[in-house]
Amino acid sequence: MTVLVLDGVSKTRGGGAHATQALRDASLSVAQGEVVLLEGASGAGKTTLLAVAAGLLTPDAGRVLLAGRSLAELSPAERRRHRARVVGFVFQRSNLLEQLTVWENVLLMALLAGRPSGEARRATNEVFEQLDIGHLAPRGSGELSGGEEQRVGVARALVHRPALVLADEPTGNLDGASGGVVAEALATCAKARGAAVLVATHDARLEPFATRRVPIVDGRLGEGRSPQ
Ligand SMILES: Nc1ncnc2c1ncn2[C@@H]1O[C@H](COP(=O)(O)OP(=O)(O)OP(=O)(O)O)[C@@H](O)[C@H]1O
Ligand SMILES: [Mg+2]
Repeated sequence: MTVLVLDGVSKTRGGGAHATQALRDASLSVAQGEVVLLEGASGAGKTTLLAVAAGLLTPDAGRVLLAGRSLAELSPAERRRHRARVVGFVFQRSNLLEQLTVWENVLLMALLAGRPSGEARRATNEVFEQLDIGHLAPRGSGELSGGEEQRVGVARALVHRPALVLADEPTGNLDGASGGVVAEALATCAKARGAAVLVATHDARLEPFATRRVPIVDGRLGEGRSPQ
């Protein structure tokens, strides 16, 4: 089943003299079980594409279908609810809430997705184990290294078992071992649970985990390539 469809999407960022056409007529589908790498230089439009896919930015033209629903036809509140249930987003800069511990930050995403409390707690413990970050659970979110914070950001995106995982440079701050743990966690989402996974990255270490690679240049998507 196709989880994400972008159909002829264009998006301009900024205004006036600084206006940049960040996406130009971009079309892309991502199906269950796929791990698609979105590869392009800095400023090519990767973050913009992921934000449009999640309904965090509204396209100027074109359509976005998320788990079969057209985002343009949902009210802002419906869009937020749909996103919380369907999408797990790994942000390029993590947005942990400082008032909460690391564990609570992850639990919160499962609760927002509508999971009952007991199930949310179990899922939180599981994802901490999967990403090997159990020791960080009681810390304050300001008490982490960049790489630790990034792994917690991945835990937050995966805890509610979303149908679509959108990850923006998820291994950017990670060494080989931690990068491998994150890559495997993303690949497992696709393989074991049938999630659709779309990853913006420059990191060649993710390529072995990909089922398809899609280049983006100046807001234009190229032909997808399957790995040899
Ligand atoms: N808030 C904004 N206001 C104006 N221009 C913006 C804004 N956000 C992004 N842009 C511009 O839109 C284009 C695409 O940006 P985007 O963040 O999508 O690129 P990216 O591929 O994610 O880059 P990076 O690899 O550096 O994260 C760039 O030219 C960028 O300067
Ligand atoms: Mg970016």
